[in-house]
Amino acid sequence: VLHGVVAMDGPSGTGKSTVSRRLARELQADYLDTGAMYRAVTLACLRAGLTAESPAEEITKVALSAGIESVTDPAAPRILLEGEDVEAEIRGEAVTKAVSAVSAVPEVRAALVARQQASIAAASGIVVEGRDIGSVVAPDAGLKIYLTASEEVRAARRNRQDLRAGRTADAAATLADVQRRDRLDSTRKTSPLHAAPDALVLDTDELSVEQVHTALLALVEERG
Ligand code: C5P
Repeated sequence: VLHGVVAMDGPSGTGKSTVSRRLARELQADYLDTGAMYRAVTLACLRAGLTAESPAEEITKVALSAGIESVTDPAAPRILLEGEDVEAEIRGEAVTKAVSAVSAVPEVRAALVARQQASIAAASGIVVEGRDIGSVVAPDAGLKIYLTASEEVRAARRNRQDLRAGRTADAAATLADVQRRDRLDSTRKTSPLHAAPDALVLDTDELSVEQVHTALLALVEERG
């Protein structure tokens, strides 16, 4: 059983969601997917007729008024937007294309970080995944993991995930999207994607989900 916070950061396609959920289930902890929150806010913006190029003030206005609720049960995590389960829609192409622009707006980040910190404070044990968890959201987390993998491996994983979920997936387009989001997420001014200095970096190129899971369990145990 987990007490405290495990911060799981890294770019997309590293297996972050899969291993975070699994770790939370195993440790009977909550699971918070912060990427889903940025995606839900992005969906709210798109539904309000905004685009990735809309002025930051308009994006902020929609983001601050959007009714988002995260269900943190690792057996069935989902995100609600105005009470509607939008789990499938937030993984689609339109949201994926616009999310990095929306999440680069500092006011959007401030609002979501505050909610994330409230969820963390309310939980006794929680696995939180994102891009800035160890560096900004939960700098005191007992364990900070930064998952990495090469661009090619990450794109291939995203592609398989898309195919399994019944979304059309083109390998070249997926790789281009992974590269584009990495660039945007790593170069934005507010909380760019980077490993916290005290995070343990795990390269998953050669590791199966099973192997990553086993390594994480050992780390949690080691830290008490
Ligand atoms: O993890 P996921 O791919 O669902 O995240 C979607 C996007 O949300 C990322 O590409 C990034 O732009 C943004 N994000 C963020 N900070 C987080 C989590 C996600 O900026 N903590």
